Amino acid sequence: MTGKLVIGNWKMNGRLAANLALIDALRADAAVQAAQVAVAPPFAYLGQAAALLAGSNIALAAQDVSAFDKDGAYTGEVSAAMLADVGCRYVLIGHSERRQYFAEDHALLARKLQAAVAAGLIPVYCVGETLAEREADAYKAVIAEQLAVLGALAGRDYVVAYEPVWAIGTGKVASVEQIDDVHQYIRATLLQCHGASDSIRVLYGGSVKADNADAIFSLQSVGGALVGGASLDVESFGRICQAAKKTV
Ligand code: PGA
Repeated sequence: MTGKLVIGNWKMNGRLAANLALIDALRADAAVQAAQVAVAPPFAYLGQAAALLAGSNIALAAQDVSAFDKDGAYTGEVSAAMLADVGCRYVLIGHSERRQYFAEDHALLARKLQAAVAAGLIPVYCVGETLAEREADAYKAVIAEQLAVLGALAGRDYVVAYEPVWAIGTGKVASVEQIDDVHQYIRATLLQCHGASDSIRVLYGGSVKADNADAIFSLQSVGGALVGGASLDVESFGRICQAAKKTV
């Protein structure tokens, strides 16, 4: 694992004109150009983003993928092969918003992970506890259960993103001690389950902003960031990329 990876998760935001302006500005930003970076627009705009990103250092990511790996009668679904076909390198899987609003469970997520790696995509598997689980001191057990799904991915290329649910979109960032504690725990758990964890990046996500990125990236256990709100603003995202580059 070398350098920090910064992925912008646009969530359900964007329009043709706004995406064009954002990607143009990202391509012109020196800090973004110098970083390892990806953006994850909504499905509807992946083709547009792929065309606008052509020839740049910015990779394309999708926010979700179907668990069905063969083409067919699955209305509304988007397969991993389609994501690879339009130029995606990464795909988010198991984001807490998917778990919460779409009741995605571990059996489904295991299928999505398999479908993604089979199509040559790099899954970015999201884990993280709710506030109640943190307060009950159950967060490590919850994360261990979420990580167990990765058992079948030994030897494959994937990324883990630790996103405490209570820190997503709330402005409440986890402390560096809390982040380091969980990141070390994730590494140890992956080591136990796969026998190796050094090459696996663990990103932090949850209210990462320009003004807290330096502190977060100063942790050796942090392999990068999954950025929501701040990824829609070029200046903020550029400064986060700059912080990522500084700590390489
Ligand atoms: P946030 O979202 O940066 O807006 O907190 C992070 C995420 O959900 O990936």
